[in-house]
Amino acid sequence: MILKPEIKELMEQSVLCWLATVSEESMPNVSPKEIFTAFGQDQVIIANIASPQTVRNIKTQPQVCLSFVEVLVQKGYQLKGNARIATESDPGYQEMKQTLEDMTLGKFPFGSIIVMEVESVKPILAPSYLFYPETQEADQIQEAKRRYNLEV
Ligand SMILES: Cc1cc2nc3c(=O)[nH]c(=O)nc-3n(C[C@H](O)[C@H](O)[C@H](O)COP(=O)(O)O)c2cc1C
Repeated sequence: MILKPEIKELMEQSVLCWLATVSEESMPNVSPKEIFTAFGQDQVIIANIASPQTVRNIKTQPQVCLSFVEVLVQKGYQLKGNARIATESDPGYQEMKQTLEDMTLGKFPFGSIIVMEVESVKPILAPSYLFYPETQEADQIQEAKRRYNLEV
């Protein structure tokens, strides 16, 4: 199992992820995705709502990197692996589609799904946790709320 419960939990709490792909000409491409979730123990699925370049890139170069950060606690993960584009005719598509539609509530139609096989996972931590080991999550949340002009 590569997607341990603590990784899935933080993924669920993170609103956005950033998916990096590489074009045929070796040009990096990164774009945000909100409709993403863990699927089983080793996969992340992402709704292709409006990601033409990402999809083009994966078709010729499957290596991807996906990062997400829960912006208040300021912790996340960087995942690396290979991706493919799944469509209606793929086995298991309906189950993946249903999982993502539970998130979109049908508001954002999509005709294919990016399926990432996760091969490695690296934690992402705000530097405060590293430079000031006494930093508590509650301190980070308070500081992030101040920086984002949210209610404290
Ligand atoms: C907050 C936010 C959430 C987004 N979520 C998704 C998503 O879940 N799926 C998707 O395909 N596009 C999503 N997009 C749109 C793509 O990021 C956007 O269309 C981007 O230009 C796609 O670029 P690409 O073709 O290089 O991937 C989102 C954009 C924003 C700003």
